[in-house]
Amino acid sequence: MADAVSVDWEALLAEARRMTGHAYVPYSGYPVGAAALVDDGRTVSGCNVENAGYGVTLCAECGLVSELAKTGGGSLVAFVCVNKAGDVIMPCGRCRQLLHEHAGAGFVIRTPQGDLPWEDVLPQGFGPQDLERVRP
Ligand code: THU
Repeated sequence: MADAVSVDWEALLAEARRMTGHAYVPYSGYPVGAAALVDDGRTVSGCNVENAGYGVTLCAECGLVSELAKTGGGSLVAFVCVNKAGDVIMPCGRCRQLLHEHAGAGFVIRTPQGDLPWEDVLPQGFGPQDLERVRP
């Protein structure tokens, strides 16, 4: 549950900033690092990995979600992503959808405008429950 683990934002920020150092960004020169707290207390993170086929680029959130799955799954409690300067940025639209799938109740995101409930950055998000609703 979201309030079962407390969020150490400084630790999450440090991990996201550390991840920018692993980014592979020969095309944009724009490293991104992302980190999230999982409901069992572990931290997952990722960096962007670009590709000569520009559209194939993996955002930092892709690596984060991949780590979430491969290390045991679970629900996201808190998330932050940063640019090369270490400043907090917003996840792109596609990555909001990516994260939404794994958002736990009470999922919080750090934004340039402060810490916000997930619903504020992806209102009425499309998710697994929408599929369930029409499943025979
Ligand atoms: N990028 C991310 O990794 N995550 C986001 O949420 C925003 C954009 C990356 C993709 C690309 O490698 C670079 O930032 C510039 O768009």
